[in-house]
Amino acid sequence: MSCASCHGERGLGDGPSAYSLVDESNQKIPARDFSKPSGFKAGYATKEIVRAFLTGFNGTPMPSFDGNISKDEAWKLAYYVETLVKDPVVPVARESQGFAIREQLGEPDIRIKLTEKAWRYIPSEIRAKKGQIIEVTFEPTDNGLGAGHGFAISSYDEVAFINGAMVGVPKAVKFRANRAGKFIFYCSTQCSTDKLHPLMNGTFIVEDVPTKTASLE
Ligand code: HEC
Repeated sequence: MSCASCHGERGLGDGPSAYSLVDESNQKIPARDFSKPSGFKAGYATKEIVRAFLTGFNGTPMPSFDGNISKDEAWKLAYYVETLVKDPVVPVARESQGFAIREQLGEPDIRIKLTEKAWRYIPSEIRAKKGQIIEVTFEPTDNGLGAGHGFAISSYDEVAFINGAMVGVPKAVKFRANRAGKFIFYCSTQCSTDKLHPLMNGTFIVEDVPTKTASLE
């Protein structure tokens, strides 16, 4: 179906037509490299890949193949696209696509009242154990030049993200600490300098809880 003319025989985005592709505003546009699922803008779940090539992408050279392929073949083609990934897809990559399948979280294990003063977070460290459900309620003490302040955690920002919390208008987010490690939390709201608030940082530490199956006993 001529996918390879743009995406290349091995799906690296290096087909014969790849280097001459332009979008509707005449900007060069690469054909997607299938070996790097993180670059899939419409998601890497199989059904999202099916949707991508059935609908195509308006304004780009990626055509719509709706009507040219049976439903059965469309799924097989999407599974084939997934075999071209260089590193196996790790759960983290899937999770970051998982807005639609966000788990229903019950009562939090930890409730954090987070505030901001003079572009600093108080507290500046949040600790949890892997698997715990954390609820962060964030209320700054100034309105960050009118845009408020935000909260996001690197590597968790698909689930832990607050934008534009203002004085008197706290915002809360609840998420599961399902990845162990040390992460940075930062202000995700842009102020009028068009930079993020670069000094507003804190540390989010998730302690790994060894499970029976993981132990060497
Ligand atoms: C004329 C060139 C061309 C052809 C032919 C083509 N594609 Fe694409 N494809 C593109 C471009 C360009 C993009 C990137 C579009 C963008 O960045 O919005 C893309 C993107 C994609 C994506 C990425 C979806 C995402 O979420 O980012 C998938 C999957 C895909 N193509 C599959 C296919 C399949 C399967 C075929 C054959 C049935 C095919 N393409 C044929 C040019 C092409």
